[in-house]
Amino acid sequence: MKRLDGKSALITGAARGIGLAFAKAYVTEGARVAIADIDGDRARDAAAEIGEGAIAVEMDVTRQDSIDAAIAQTVKSLRQIDILINNAAVFTAAPIVEITREEYARVFDANVAGPLFTLQAVARHMIKHGIKGRIINMASQAGRRGEPLVAVYCASKSAVISLTQSAGLDLIKHGINVNAIAPGVVDGEHWDGVDAYFAKYEGKAPGQKKREVGEAVPVGRMAQAEDLTGMAVFLASQDADYIVAQTYNVDGGNWMS
Ligand SMILES: NC(=O)c1ccc[n+]([C@@H]2O[C@H](COP(=O)([O-])OP(=O)(O)OC[C@H]3O[C@@H](n4cnc5c(N)ncnc54)[C@H](O)[C@@H]3O)[C@@H](O)[C@H]2O)c1
Repeated sequence: MKRLDGKSALITGAARGIGLAFAKAYVTEGARVAIADIDGDRARDAAAEIGEGAIAVEMDVTRQDSIDAAIAQTVKSLRQIDILINNAAVFTAAPIVEITREEYARVFDANVAGPLFTLQAVARHMIKHGIKGRIINMASQAGRRGEPLVAVYCASKSAVISLTQSAGLDLIKHGINVNAIAPGVVDGEHWDGVDAYFAKYEGKAPGQKKREVGEAVPVGRMAQAEDLTGMAVFLASQDADYIVAQTYNVDGGNWMS
């Protein structure tokens, strides 16, 4: 018996990076997954690569009509949603004096309103059908502590930790466990983008910031997306029945709480 046998999962932002690693791990553990992403072509490629057990869903978490349509499509294909991973997010960086309202709105729409209203719609589905579901939000070490150039993204991830606590406390009465994962620095396209911001604002050579943050991790390296999958499977499994409203650091020792 695999740990997620018979379960159906909707994973946002799963066309690449950490979300894609989660999708592969969930299928390996017996689940069927909807790879939901704003990049529909890449979501379809990812689902085709995984093969049996995966479907692609084009979804923009910043639009309510898209959230509702993605959930309807997932339920139609996979029968129901037992697990949601709110993984999609965007990044930004700028000194405080350069932050714009447009950039603030773009990041909070995707990183805060996205998870909140996706979680709300999936929770309604779970409650209606009596599903004792699991919701996992992707926070970050950036949500534990501010950083001089990363105010907006850090604040958005703090909000994810707070939403996880409130939703966790509210939804457990329906048998829905809400928890979060806070990664540290994970190699991939996301961090290629982060590195470019630091090259711009700190005058670093391309790749330099990435090297520095990797060397600073107590484990001695950046994470690979696969380093996060154990926690994502655990939180969705029966072993986590008694875990509610928590945010777990999976960061090689960067943050202690
Ligand atoms: N990579 C890291 O170092 C790191 C560290 C801490 C937390 N995280 C968090 O982990 C999660 C995954 O990170 P990643 O490194 O795989 O990121 P990534 O940028 O590689 O992937 C994000 C995915 O989300 C999709 N996406 C963006 N906006 C969307 C929208 N509006 N609707 C639907 N999909 C959208 C993108 O197309 C992309 O496929 C994010 O929540 C991120 O904030 C990442």
